[in-house]
Amino acid sequence: MNGDTRLPVAVLISGTGSNLKALLEASAAGAAYRVVTVLSNRPEAGGLAHAAAAGVPATVIDHRRHPDRESFDRALLEALAPHAPQLVVLAGFMRVLTPLFVRRWAGRLLNIHPSLLPAWRGLDTHRRVLAAGERRHGASVHFVTEGLDEGPVIVQAEVPVEDGDDEARLAARVHTVEHRIYPLAVDWFGRGWLRQDGDRVWFRGRILDRPLRYPDDEAAWHAP
Ligand code: GRF
Repeated sequence: MNGDTRLPVAVLISGTGSNLKALLEASAAGAAYRVVTVLSNRPEAGGLAHAAAAGVPATVIDHRRHPDRESFDRALLEALAPHAPQLVVLAGFMRVLTPLFVRRWAGRLLNIHPSLLPAWRGLDTHRRVLAAGERRHGASVHFVTEGLDEGPVIVQAEVPVEDGDDEARLAARVHTVEHRIYPLAVDWFGRGWLRQDGDRVWFRGRILDRPLRYPDDEAAWHAP
């Protein structure tokens, strides 16, 4: 959109892209950011169709064509540059980024993880939560640092684990809250409300002593 001065955001995906879709929809509805480019490491990622439908340029950078992680990450950095994003958003991006990439985007790099961090870092969270007999699960949006799923958490949403849940049912319940909290957090960044300070998060001019909770803390973001 010409004259659109909202925060330019790049979204990195590997798969279905339901979070990308939620981010695009919130932007179209007036959130404080616009998605300027989508990168996928997989040519078959379903999310590429969401980018196309929204008229957002998408590029595939197949990690299998790169000899090592740094070479792949350099290709990502080069693909981002012409779009001049000011925030990079990982949305189901299934590659671990090297320090080269993370340092370049420090403080301007977000991820969403399907657990109530710091619980259940890493892969297969739904399966592990069920196997452990947990009664609560959820999703977290955090700034990305060099440690896997270790960066400071901005906002979380909890969902119950229900009797009879399997991985698919639990994952679907987590997805519904992911689609609320990720657009919220990116909107906050676009408004200039968020800042990473080492392992802490500034939100609207104060340091968070714990992650914000969706929806319980909504007074914090609805306050004038
Ligand atoms: C989400 O559960 C997200 O938390 C995790 O990967 C999944 C991506 O789903 N990082 P989608 O591709 O956005 O549908």
